[in-house]
Amino acid sequence: MISIEEVIKEYKDDKKDSLDIDKLEHKYLSRKGYIAELFKGIKDIIPEKKSAYGQKLNELKQDIEEYVAKNKTQEIESNIEIYPINRLDMQSRLGGLSPISRLIFKIQDIFAGLGFSVAVGPELESEKYNFDMLNIPESHPARDVWDTIWVQNPAGIKSLLRTHTSPVQIHYMENNKPPIRIIAPGKVYRYEATDSTHETVFHQVEGLCLDDKASISTFKGVINYFFKELFQQDVKIRLRPSYFPFTEPSFEIDIWLEDKWLEIAGAGMVNRKVLENGGITDPNIQGFAFGFGVERLAMILYGIDDIRLIHSADIRFASQLGKIQL
Ligand code: PHE
Repeated sequence: MISIEEVIKEYKDDKKDSLDIDKLEHKYLSRKGYIAELFKGIKDIIPEKKSAYGQKLNELKQDIEEYVAKNKTQEIESNIEIYPINRLDMQSRLGGLSPISRLIFKIQDIFAGLGFSVAVGPELESEKYNFDMLNIPESHPARDVWDTIWVQNPAGIKSLLRTHTSPVQIHYMENNKPPIRIIAPGKVYRYEATDSTHETVFHQVEGLCLDDKASISTFKGVINYFFKELFQQDVKIRLRPSYFPFTEPSFEIDIWLEDKWLEIAGAGMVNRKVLENGGITDPNIQGFAFGFGVERLAMILYGIDDIRLIHSADIRFASQLGKIQL
């Protein structure tokens, strides 16, 4: 039987020789290792020396355990390779502009070619600008279908998430004199049950052209040019009589695609009352306004069959659209 002194000596030698830590652990601490063997030997020690022997043996065991533990952590640490970043199996994907933003930029470019600049207005719009100034009376049915989220400020001014970009017309007229040629892109909100062609939040591009001769035929020319540039081909357009309180006469613009007419925008000659609300009193000033749905244009251009996909934040959808060249 090996003695404790012999084990201590051998342990010192093994440390000096840097014996492999797993081997050392096995040799001393395993079930059949030296320490276990020495513990078994306690019963043969004479009673007076048992306690001293036990203590010595426990100290040795603890010493070996600490040595093993320390060396194992060192081993783990030295095994961690610091991977250079390009060795990580991780793809970096650059984000990009959403197809809607890119389409809006494209639309801005086309209209810039016709001398239209870009204006913006607030998304939280006062009742006055969203409705009253646009000649939409309290009793008008549009107020019910356009009932979005209302906010009232401490001064009692009622505002709502704007239901269309037409209020920008008024803001712009109040701050600028004709001739006016602007488009106003932005988000609008609707109280709507969503389906494949309706969303509660979408984008519009408003247009406003006011001078001393802007007529319906000017309007037709502008719209024809716009669609031809956007679709890169001649597009058949139809103006259908319609009704908006802020235009007189009013139209729906339809475009002929493949085999059917698609409603694409509301438009009309700006109502005299609206011009006056915007501070334009000169009777020689006239013009037209229009409002497109951007998502609807995107759906036609990119062949998207469900409007809800556009803002779904689904990476599979976004990455497909990211490849489209405008
Ligand atoms: N604001 C109208 C809508 O959202 C569209 C429109 C704009 C109609 C300008 C006429 C003139 O439906």
